[in-house]
Amino acid sequence: MSQSKAVLRRFISLKIICGLNTIVSLFIIVLVNKNSTYHTILTQPVHTINDALKQELINEHLLSYSQFYNSSSYECKIKSNNDQLEKELNATARLLPTLGRNIVPYPNDYFHGRGIVLTIGKYQLPFAKVNLEMIQHTRTRLPVQIWYSSQEIQDGDVTDLLIIAPRVNLSICCFLQNRCRNLIRTWQINSQYVFKPHITNAEQRFAYKPAAIISSTFAEVLFLDSDAYLTRDPEELFLHDPMYLQFGTLFFPDAHISRQHSSVWKLFNTTCGENEFELDSAAILVDKRRAWKGLFITKLMNDNYRYFYGSISDGDKDTFRFGFRYMNVKYYIVMIPCATGQFNGSHFCGLTLCKTDSLAQHIYINHVHIFKYEDVSYTTENLEYTRIGLGDPNNHSYFFMHCRLPGGQTSCFHIVAQPNPEVIPNFCYIGEISLKDIEDYKYQSNEVLLFDRSRYNRIILTKTNNVMPHFIENLIKSSHHL
Ligand SMILES: *[C@@H]1O[C@H](CO)[C@@H](O)[C@H](O)[C@H]1NC(C)=O
Ligand SMILES: *[C@@H]1O[C@H](CO)[C@@H](O)[C@H](O)[C@H]1NC(C)=O
Ligand SMILES: *[C@@H]1O[C@H](CO)[C@@H](O)[C@H](O)[C@H]1NC(C)=O
Ligand SMILES: *[C@@H]1O[C@H](CO)[C@@H](O)[C@H](O)[C@H]1NC(C)=O
Ligand SMILES: *[C@@H]1O[C@H](CO)[C@@H](O)[C@H](O)[C@H]1NC(C)=O
Ligand SMILES: *[C@@H]1O[C@H](CO)[C@@H](O)[C@H](O)[C@H]1NC(C)=O
Repeated sequence: MSQSKAVLRRFISLKIICGLNTIVSLFIIVLVNKNSTYHTILTQPVHTINDALKQELINEHLLSYSQFYNSSSYECKIKSNNDQLEKELNATARLLPTLGRNIVPYPNDYFHGRGIVLTIGKYQLPFAKVNLEMIQHTRTRLPVQIWYSSQEIQDGDVTDLLIIAPRVNLSICCFLQNRCRNLIRTWQINSQYVFKPHITNAEQRFAYKPAAIISSTFAEVLFLDSDAYLTRDPEELFLHDPMYLQFGTLFFPDAHISRQHSSVWKLFNTTCGENEFELDSAAILVDKRRAWKGLFITKLMNDNYRYFYGSISDGDKDTFRFGFRYMNVKYYIVMIPCATGQFNGSHFCGLTLCKTDSLAQHIYINHVHIFKYEDVSYTTENLEYTRIGLGDPNNHSYFFMHCRLPGGQTSCFHIVAQPNPEVIPNFCYIGEISLKDIEDYKYQSNEVLLFDRSRYNRIILTKTNNVMPHFIENLIKSSHHL
């Protein structure tokens, strides 16, 4: 065992004996770098991004992002030699132009303002309660609309939601009845602008997502899955995020490089984007004015999901990307890998997907992902650490992987530097966390994660509370709803 590793082990055991207060001072000992000079972490100035650096980052990101729309026509590496896929592609190719013709024009004077949108079905009700409490913790002024279908849940069941978070400006809207209500009143909305999902199969609830975004009365929407929780007031994303302002849509990554075949990209009349990450569609920030056609075709594709899920895409998340590309609507994917999870002194297992703004200044959203899918419990240990890869997000500096190690209790999100000999190709990271990645620095609320000296390919592992104050305690408190 190397000396610094021994120190780390000692730190882990001391932590258990001494409790929280001693951690900060002990951590300074841990952060010895290779040249044995001490990191002066506790006396660092508050990190900010000044205008000059901001402009440099924007230029750098725009340049590196353009590779995903590479116009030199080249074939993707993944090719299909599968008859079944070809047959499905042919059927879909016939349907797509029809869907394109069914797009309704953007109603110019109808939508207004900015807001948060959620959808719920039976199984999301408890998560929506947690979500509303988490929204309330951010003290945001943004209004919230929750959309549902009375076919799927009783009107009475959703009424509970209205009293969960009294300081949130919440209305609940029903697709079938063209009606919204809050604690005080109920009102009809113009049925012409309620774009109901066409669902024949009750399990196909993903179609609610794009339908809720376009039907909500806001012109600009932050859509959240019921288990994607705010960690910070997102209003500043609408107001100041440079890539949101430039593109009109921010998507966030899933921990997979695109897996679609060359013929799928061709089907959607777009260049090969195989180096782009797939989406985690649990959070979408969108200006409907600018992305309308993309959103509308995504809604229609989900109504006709049989043609688009399965071999053509991995479900609703990909329909956004391909729908936007088909309609030539630009988007920006914030490809900054981020996960909250467990760290046992040598190995990190990410269990959530967290989301930052496009310049990685702050974490705004934490999608609890594996907690829901694999029934992991909401404990401090399972949420204690957060790992994030900072730098130019489009320059392939990191592996961002979702995989399960042999014998692992859960699958994990891994974020590790590229190239890396301990990554098994197309599979998993088997190595340990490098000591230089461990950081114990409590970011102030306006202090940024990415700053001048750290802009090139820096990965940190830090206490979740350092980067998302109170997230753990708030979530654990609210998890009694689940
Ligand atoms: C486009 O892709 C080709 C093939 O991968 C590559 O050689 C070229 O540099 C790319 N162009 C840009 C602008 O990224
Ligand atoms: C799909 O369509 C192409 C041309 O449009 C045709 O050459 C091909 O045979 C079709 N494939 C199948 C499996 O039907
Ligand atoms: C609540 O949000 C609605 C928009 O959905 C807005 O019209 C209303 O003024 C807001 N109410 C308060 C008290 O902020
Ligand atoms: C494909 O995209 C180009 C622009 O990139 C457009 O001019 C053309 O009409 C599109 N074709 C179809 C079939 O949508
Ligand atoms: C930490 O987790 C890894 C991977 O699950 C395991 O191999 C290792 O033994 C664990 N270490 C400790 C100290 O529990
Ligand atoms: C990507 O990162 C490498 C290594 O840090 C750097 O040399 C290269 O210039 C970067 N490329 C772009 C397009 O930013």
